[in-house]
Amino acid sequence: MTGLRPLTAADAPAIRRIYSGAAVSYLGRPEMTEQEAERYVVEVAKWAAADPVAQYILGVDAAGDLVGVVKLGRRPNAHGRVSYVLRQDTWGHGYATAAVQQLITFAAAAGFDSLGAKHDPGNPASGRVLTKAGFRCLGVYGGMVEYRLALTATPVTA
Ligand SMILES: CC(C)(COP(=O)(O)OP(=O)(O)OC[C@H]1O[C@@H](n2cnc3c(N)ncnc32)[C@H](O)[C@@H]1OP(=O)(O)O)[C@@H](O)C(=O)NCCC(=O)NCCS
Repeated sequence: MTGLRPLTAADAPAIRRIYSGAAVSYLGRPEMTEQEAERYVVEVAKWAAADPVAQYILGVDAAGDLVGVVKLGRRPNAHGRVSYVLRQDTWGHGYATAAVQQLITFAAAAGFDSLGAKHDPGNPASGRVLTKAGFRCLGVYGGMVEYRLALTATPVTA
């Protein structure tokens, strides 16, 4: 059973394990150190308390194991940007897809009208996650493959 939940200070060691190994190779960042992970969970708690929240960061919990992180960043016009990272030893179990599907539900309830996401062309697994979750591929822009999902129902016209 996969679920999304807020991060707590106790999650710092699990966060450091998520941001390690091959999982960081497409994120344009180095592996997270223990100190960075401890600072990160404190920062995330501050961002979660902001009003409005500029960036939601939620943990992906698989049967009590924190296996990843999903992010939803607020952009103008009720648009949200989605990103995610899963711990390398948990890849291939459908956790990212389940987490993104739940983030879509969360985003709709939070009032977002549309979502966007992108991935490096050399990272097809990420694109597969997005299309399985219902995103539409728009093509390559600025060297990245862009995706979009409308959350608002299309008005019925007579
Ligand atoms: C991309 C990532 C989130 C996928 O997580 P995951 O939990 O393994 O994803 P899922 O199991 O839900 O789905 C992965 C899908 O990609 C497919 N896939 C895996 N490797 C693939 C490849 N090389 N080419 C095409 N599809 C691939 C899987 O077969 C699966 O699809 P399926 O269910 O149709 O078989 C994970 O690999 C990750 O965290 N990578 C590092 C961070 C990252 O790239 N984040 C996205 C930045 S844009």
